[in-house]
Amino acid sequence: MKDKISIIGAGNVGTTAAHCCLRMDLGKIVLLDVNADIPRGKALDLSQAAVLEGHAGDITGTADYRDTAGSDLVIVTAGIARKAGMSRDDLLKINAGIVTQVMQKALQASPQALFIVTSNPVNVMCRLALKTMTDHRRLIGLSGVLDGARMRAQIALTTGVPVNEVQGFVLGDHGDTMVPLPRLAVIGGVPATALLSAGQLAEVSKKTISGGADIINLTGCSSFYAPGIALAVMAHALLNDSRTILPCSTYLQGQYGEHDVYMCVPVRLGRKGVEEIIEVVLEDGEKAALARTAAHIRANFEVVAG
Ligand code: 2OP
Repeated sequence: MKDKISIIGAGNVGTTAAHCCLRMDLGKIVLLDVNADIPRGKALDLSQAAVLEGHAGDITGTADYRDTAGSDLVIVTAGIARKAGMSRDDLLKINAGIVTQVMQKALQASPQALFIVTSNPVNVMCRLALKTMTDHRRLIGLSGVLDGARMRAQIALTTGVPVNEVQGFVLGDHGDTMVPLPRLAVIGGVPATALLSAGQLAEVSKKTISGGADIINLTGCSSFYAPGIALAVMAHALLNDSRTILPCSTYLQGQYGEHDVYMCVPVRLGRKGVEEIIEVVLEDGEKAALARTAAHIRANFEVVAG
């Protein structure tokens, strides 16, 4: 029996995620938006592309949550994306209302589903979604898979090493207070610190943090190719019970010294969601930066917690 993935929001990120999930043969896709014509049209386009791409192309578009019933995974991309000059935090209030409404409708149709939230600011949106969802193991956010990809791409660009030979991750927030960890990155099995100077590591962190804004400043539009494939990578790990370790926005209950907050940390993913939260040894400066980002996320949550 094929898995059912419902993607709420047929904008650039949602549609790219649908395309990547189809190409990875992850299951049948339901693409939902408030106006049925858009998801229906994009589903038609993707089903026609499938003929040439050699996969099933099993996707439908709708505006009716009843069509998402019984989903194994729900990906929430609904919400406003930022424009040039905006921070993700600027989306806080408007996206809080959208995410709350979407979670209530999606959970009613698929009470046992796994959920990935992408709407920004994502750690606050995840914590808000948890008020509806309650099972934090089945509710994660897209942040570090995307930010980690940006850091790895920047390291590859700096060293000239093929991107697939660079491993690394970020912690904390999907925003200006994120904590990139290039010093823990590994390049072809070699620690990044053996190949990059302190100045180069600092530049990698800077470009990782500004990665999303850099794209908006160039194109006038928020990124969607990397977020789309990042969502498919997370979906694959969850649905295939792969026990892969990925950096995701995850509910902390004391890990990294933080309670009752969503932050990006390395987690092992499987069919039940978050199977394990992995704690790495941090330097004092990194611990302090992580505490600051947790405080920032909490302060934003208090604004919309209600
Ligand atoms: C980004 O960083 C959309 O937040 C996403 O591009």
